[in-house]
Amino acid sequence: MSTNLSENKDLLVLGIESSCDETAASVIRGCRNVLSNVIYSQIDIHTVYGGVVPEIASRGHIEKINLVVKQALSEAGVELKDLDAIAVTYGPGLVGALLVGVAHAKALGWAAGVPVVGVNHIEGHICANYISSPELEPPFMCLVASGGHSHLVNVSGYGEYEIIARTRDDAAGEAFDKVARAIGLGYPGGPKIDKAAREGDPDAIVFPRAKVRENEYDFSFSGLKSAVLNYLNSCNMKGEKINTADVAASFQKAVVDTLVGHSMQAATDRGVKKFAIAGGVASNSSLRKAFEEECAKRGIEFLSPEPIYCTDNGAMIGVAGSYDYLLGYRSGLDLNAVPNLSIGERKGAFKV
Ligand code: KG4
Ligand code: ZN
Repeated sequence: MSTNLSENKDLLVLGIESSCDETAASVIRGCRNVLSNVIYSQIDIHTVYGGVVPEIASRGHIEKINLVVKQALSEAGVELKDLDAIAVTYGPGLVGALLVGVAHAKALGWAAGVPVVGVNHIEGHICANYISSPELEPPFMCLVASGGHSHLVNVSGYGEYEIIARTRDDAAGEAFDKVARAIGLGYPGGPKIDKAAREGDPDAIVFPRAKVRENEYDFSFSGLKSAVLNYLNSCNMKGEKINTADVAASFQKAVVDTLVGHSMQAATDRGVKKFAIAGGVASNSSLRKAFEEECAKRGIEFLSPEPIYCTDNGAMIGVAGSYDYLLGYRSGLDLNAVPNLSIGERKGAFKV
């Protein structure tokens, strides 16, 4: 079945993404070819507040979505009526932000008579791997690490996901953002820590690597975040100078060790042959390098999306939506935003 799905070379799908602070749209041909990929990032707007302000994000999406979608269609040289489907993120994410994309997709779909497919944002992140690795077919294991999620997922087939591990508290990206704020690097934290860490010593400070008793593969990052905050407080109280680059590098090493360690344990235990990463944190240079090395040591093929497809984009939604469409999933005009949608959950979808 998997091969047949990839052979639909002329399928044209518009992907729309608005779950957080990026308004994005993309046209995908044949499930994996990106004809256009327009991303309007609101980072500059939210930087002033040190993080994403949900109401401002929603308003930003409303202001830009029409332009972003029009540009994606025109860069792809495609008209609405040419599309086979409109794929849109309906969860998880910020409810007000999701609603803008969902309402826009439903309106376009209704006006042009094109079916709408609601897409799970996390599944979209995983599907970004199909863009950068055109030969990739399930089964494979994938670590999704973003601002809101850290999951280890077994992709057994197209549209078939089994969660193997999750975070018990903070997501990896959230830890990057909180630590970056504490050491004065600002928002968004991930790329700033990535850069600062290059000048620092990853072994300068030993921060904890948490183990979760109930599920050895699960993650926990809140203890690590507290350890960094305690370290900073203690330096301040003793009047010691804080070396930002060393803190960034040591914290990053603790996150990378945990993500890679748990992932490789699960992959080895399950005899996995292909391992992929996804989500904003997957663009971290040190994480990518560590996975490359550890997978090579174990004879596991390692796959990763190009950094532009790791952070939020419409292309990954278009790809996930293409496969969901071919699997027969459709959404009606009652499609709603589902802020806490789980991986593998299909709310309100029907099959044709
Ligand atoms: O996937 P994404 O764009 O949005 C969500 O779905 O959350 O991920 C954003 C997260 C943020 O927490 C950001 O700090 C983190 O990904 N991130 C990084 C890097 N680039 C983005 N974390 C570590 N290193 C990076 N280079
Ligand atoms: Zn995301």
